[in-house]
Amino acid sequence: MVFINALVAGLLLGPGVLGASISARTAVSKNNVNPSLGAIVGEYVPKNVRRQVAAHSTLKPIKLSQLDSFLNGRAAKRDTDSAPAGFVLTDKEKLVYGLAGDANSLVMANVTLLSTNGKPLINMESFESSTKNVVCGETMTLEFISKEAFDSAVAEWGWVNEDETHEFIMIANHESCSPADQRTPYLVLNADYDEDTFTATLDATRAEWKDIANTFDLDFGKVKLPATAISRRAAAAHYDDTVSIDLTQTVRNPVIFSTTAGASGFDLTVSCLDCGTKGTLDVSGHIAVKGFSVEELSVEASPDNFEARLQIGVKVNGRAPNAAFSAQLLSVGLGGIDIPGIFTLGPTLDYDVGFSATLEGTAEISYGVRATISNDAVLKADLINPSNTQFTNWSPIIQQIPFQLNAVAKASITAFAQPTVALTFDVIGLPAFEAALKLKLPEVKADLSALANNGGVCGNSAKTAGVQVNASIGVDITFSVGADAATNPGTIFEKQLFVSPI
Ligand SMILES: *[C@@H]1O[C@H](CO)[C@@H](O)[C@H](O)[C@H]1NC(C)=O
Ligand SMILES: *[C@@H]1O[C@H](CO)[C@@H](O)[C@H](O)[C@H]1NC(C)=O
Repeated sequence: MVFINALVAGLLLGPGVLGASISARTAVSKNNVNPSLGAIVGEYVPKNVRRQVAAHSTLKPIKLSQLDSFLNGRAAKRDTDSAPAGFVLTDKEKLVYGLAGDANSLVMANVTLLSTNGKPLINMESFESSTKNVVCGETMTLEFISKEAFDSAVAEWGWVNEDETHEFIMIANHESCSPADQRTPYLVLNADYDEDTFTATLDATRAEWKDIANTFDLDFGKVKLPATAISRRAAAAHYDDTVSIDLTQTVRNPVIFSTTAGASGFDLTVSCLDCGTKGTLDVSGHIAVKGFSVEELSVEASPDNFEARLQIGVKVNGRAPNAAFSAQLLSVGLGGIDIPGIFTLGPTLDYDVGFSATLEGTAEISYGVRATISNDAVLKADLINPSNTQFTNWSPIIQQIPFQLNAVAKASITAFAQPTVALTFDVIGLPAFEAALKLKLPEVKADLSALANNGGVCGNSAKTAGVQVNASIGVDITFSVGADAATNPGTIFEKQLFVSPI
């Protein structure tokens, strides 16, 4: 708990603050109070929650021959010399996907796929420069540029004709075989060759990733690119593998709760003067799947200039004995990444506020707290063995946004903002997982009482009215792992990362 007992100079009431002085408005006449009313407690259903679904960015295949140029700023190698190596059937294929993050970074996902059920793999990209023409239809026809290339294919792929059970997986990324900028797997059952035209005709049928990819590793994150080829060495020093998720969301001025005397015996309006979040979250992760079962799923998340704000405005007229509500102001999809058929990372940000108060008087109050988290905060979450999850430096730094008020007889207010950042992982063939960081941040409790003293308050004889404020601020940061709420609700694991009760 951060306890603040203050007679803050900024709280001195004058005509400049919200337009009226305390002496002009004192306690409400008792006639306005309905003593039988009791508390309003409950869930407020807000009228205009901002809901937004963001489209995912689809990562595009990066050929291994291009990767070097991306990462090192060098011209792509001509890889006509890749034959015959490019034709070899393998039991491990590395598939690299990426997308420009910003001017000098690449959002990247590396999939290392292992062959399953004795079906070896080959990526068409590795021998593509040796082909003249590729046609996918009833069969897959590959016309090679040279006898050397053709002979290499015959030599390496002959295995498929040796036995009926011999089959291999061809991963194709060619306009005739696959949707644009995607890789599509084909199951190859047999091969025919035409020596005169250097053409191989494969008996190949399109397969689904979920049927052939049952054992793989996937790493995702952001890779910084060198500004120039010369900066290569320097750039290599700050390769950091993360995907940034922009958390900047602002809600200004909506009334989040209101009730009028007719219904309750008092007027109460609560608005979010400035609520929201700022900053980014850098995320990287590793997933290992073996035989359709997730063996490892770890995520590293680190905030960058993260801030959560809560500045509320309260207008009261009457005696509100125990008003309480909570509301969701935002539920926003933040735009994740996906590899069609293989992997989706979908981040969302929810922003909830809660408020409870006992108020008496006729007053307008505004108060707020800003909380920031150090850029050194790191969460290393292990979603398979969540108790191994590590977190460091999540203790927030709290800064108060000064009180403003025109009058108050007595008020005891507790309010909190609760941004929740959730990451949903959808990995082929597996139920979706969700990792969520729930930040009850900031939570503030303030007891206010008006002071009036003809001799001056706060050591200033010119001021005749002031407000005494005792405020305490609490924080509660909780990490949870659950099955995706939409498909299979339930929390698997929950742990408080940081708690400082109010
Ligand atoms: C993907 O692989 C490339 C090349 O090996 C490497 O430079 C990069 O850091 C990897 N990216 C991720 C996110 O693991
Ligand atoms: C603030 O705390 C002091 C000391 O505990 C107490 O005397 C005072 O009444 C409190 N003020 C309010 C407004 O609750």
